[in-house]
Amino acid sequence: MTCRHLAALAAGCETAFTVDASRVTFGRGALAEVGDRARALGMRRVALFTDPRLRASPWFHEVAHALAAAGLDAIVFDAVAIEPTDATFEAAAQFAREARPDGYVSLGGGSVIDTCKAANLLASHPASLRTYVNAPLGDARPIPGPLAPHIACPTTCGTGSEVTGIAIFDWLAHHAKTGIASPRLRPTEAIVDPRTTATLPSAVVAASGMDVLCHALESFTARSYAQRVAPSAPSARPMSQGKNPWSDLGCREAIRLAARYLVRAVRDVGDLEAREQIMWAATLAGIAFGNAGVHAPHAMAYAVAGRVRDFAPAGYPEAPIVPHGMAVGVNAPAVFRAFGAFCPEQHLEAAALLGAETRGAGPAEGGGLLAARVIELSRAIELPNGIAGVGYTSADLEDLVAGTLPQQRLLANAPCEVDADCVRELFAGALTYW
Ligand SMILES: NC(=O)c1ccc[n+]([C@@H]2O[C@H](COP(=O)([O-])OP(=O)(O)OC[C@H]3O[C@@H](n4cnc5c(N)ncnc54)[C@H](O)[C@@H]3O)[C@@H](O)[C@H]2O)c1
Ligand SMILES: [Zn+2]
Repeated sequence: MTCRHLAALAAGCETAFTVDASRVTFGRGALAEVGDRARALGMRRVALFTDPRLRASPWFHEVAHALAAAGLDAIVFDAVAIEPTDATFEAAAQFAREARPDGYVSLGGGSVIDTCKAANLLASHPASLRTYVNAPLGDARPIPGPLAPHIACPTTCGTGSEVTGIAIFDWLAHHAKTGIASPRLRPTEAIVDPRTTATLPSAVVAASGMDVLCHALESFTARSYAQRVAPSAPSARPMSQGKNPWSDLGCREAIRLAARYLVRAVRDVGDLEAREQIMWAATLAGIAFGNAGVHAPHAMAYAVAGRVRDFAPAGYPEAPIVPHGMAVGVNAPAVFRAFGAFCPEQHLEAAALLGAETRGAGPAEGGGLLAARVIELSRAIELPNGIAGVGYTSADLEDLVAGTLPQQRLLANAPCEVDADCVRELFAGALTYW
């Protein structure tokens, strides 16, 4: 044991981290495996979750065919709303309680996979939704036992929801996004078939690709697990345990891949190599942030998305919404610019991985260089220009601060203390970038 470890033990800090992930199958054509894998998990009657657009896609037919070929019955729920609300989660749970499946398959982006997780939870361990929702909006009660098996098949590149124990929704009465976080929510298996990205509109690749990049950049610049207080018992160690050597591996590669392929993946619908590489980055960043945790840009995004007024993005069937990746991306440069001082080496390394010219730069310049590079990428993939670009003005700052402060699970992961004054300054810095 090193002196550093002895000192950490004495201070009551963490000295270990845990790595969890769903079993992952990745590759072109992998969707055809879903029937055999579902049967191997003991499923006979499958609840198949998707959204209306994907129901009409070739991917849905491939999955339905694979399940039928394996001799399994599938009952379909295709009423998933994009950026789901509490009402969507409740309707999906009602469906699951009535359908009584012995397993779940989800085919879609984060909206579908998260809705399927919630339905599985509320059918397996019936209770009101708020019972399991994160504090302070919900009661944050632990999930009492395992859920039914769930195979998640992502079709965006992407949230990483197929490998995380998180389900996010818009709680309409509170005008805020929040969620449920528990290792028990993590899908049993992820089947990631990059062919599905061929039908993705460019605007969805841009938003979900920025989400991937921010998962990696935030986990890479988060507070280290070794700077956090050790849990009361090993089983109480949170999934958002802080930056660690395992999460760093996935983050570095995801940042490098985003630098190389994101613009190509957005601009050229036919560039399947680029879209496949961003899907791989999404898987890596999903495993990384699922074992580390994101911080301020995501915490702020829940207010930006939850308080939407009339923003109607191209490429999405529903409005008004601020798609998750956009809601995160508009905050990110302001946060990196401000937080660079608290872990300068990490910001400088991230800037270099993202393609910034860092020769001759000192660590103190890392935050600014990283912010500038994220702005450059945001412009190249035509994301909105800051929070003003999705409809907010300086008159909204207090309201956005109020919507962010409840996200303590995420704010506690930032590399510095984050209070109301800090969040206000971050939003002021995020109004416009160009
Ligand atoms: N659970 C987690 O760990 C986690 C992490 C990040 C985000 N999220 C949540 O995920 C949601 C966002 O998910 P998302 O960005 O994956 O997008 P999405 O599921 O909201 O889908 C966006 C749009 O793309 C369409 N689409 C999806 N795949 C397609 C395909 N292959 N071809 C054509 N159209 C396709 C959908 O029908 C929809 O219209 C948000 O609610 C967000 O809060 C969850
Ligand atoms: Zn995200």
